[in-house]
Amino acid sequence: MGRAIAITSGKGGVGKSSVCINLGIVLAQMGYQVCLIDVDLGLKNLDVMLGLENRVIYDLRDVMEGVCPLNKAILKDKRENNLYLLPACKSVNIHYFKGSDLQLVVNELKQSFDFVLLDTPAGIESGFLYSIACADDVILVSNLDITSMQDADRVIGILMKEQMQSIRLIINRLNPHFIDKGISIRLEDALNWLGIELLGYVFDDESVIRSNNRGAPISLAKHTQVYDCFAAIAKRLNGENAALPKYREKRFLQKLFG
Ligand SMILES: Nc1ncnc2c1ncn2[C@@H]1O[C@H](COP(=O)(O)OP(=O)(O)OP(=O)(O)O)[C@@H](O)[C@H]1O
Ligand SMILES: [Mg+2]
Repeated sequence: MGRAIAITSGKGGVGKSSVCINLGIVLAQMGYQVCLIDVDLGLKNLDVMLGLENRVIYDLRDVMEGVCPLNKAILKDKRENNLYLLPACKSVNIHYFKGSDLQLVVNELKQSFDFVLLDTPAGIESGFLYSIACADDVILVSNLDITSMQDADRVIGILMKEQMQSIRLIINRLNPHFIDKGISIRLEDALNWLGIELLGYVFDDESVIRSNNRGAPISLAKHTQVYDCFAAIAKRLNGENAALPKYREKRFLQKLFG
């Protein structure tokens, strides 16, 4: 029986989808069977970020409405053998979206996959609550700015109210220069503020944006420090005591060509 993990945030645009995809890739490379579900209804991203948008025929809604069986809607990644995607609905009226249907889909996926990663919509609307209700664990993604932290703190309160026991934090876009200049808050201060376990961090790196735009996620290449971040996160998710990587300054040519 696999684990369903909701990847969520308070504020939008902090990197949930990027975390979902790259963590999924690294877990798949480790040999786990991984299925990503795009629960960002109507605002789907994962198919584009994986370069699978032209292959989508059926989606989550078709499965929930019984238009097609689950195995027909799931897409296999082009590069990672163990990675699959259940795409989001192209359009959906949230009033017709039933949490119990999502629960059925997630439960079925957990029979065949080691990890089911749910990319949840930002904020605390129904899509978020439905995803949380299906999840065994939550990964909360935040940046190190005040608004992102405030919204993350609010979400922790809601998750606790929903009796979620396992909530761990990923700080995305960590930029040591911004911390030194006082633009971002310090990691220790963020951890004291939120009071939840740090699963890991991911450095701020423009190659992530470039890779996302190309539909070729950054973790497909193993020589980057962003990859090292995700590799450490994947190990810690599996209970290993992996150290988090230290920031390495990019060399001149790396800065030029990413
Ligand atoms: N570590 C990173 N370094 C640099 N840019 C990043 C990093 N992670 C994500 N980004 C960029 O930040 C933007 C938002 O990322 P992403 O779409 O993953 O966020 P999201 O939380 O899923 O957004 P939404 O709430 O809209 O679904 C994208 O342009 C992405 O390429
Ligand atoms: Mg997203």
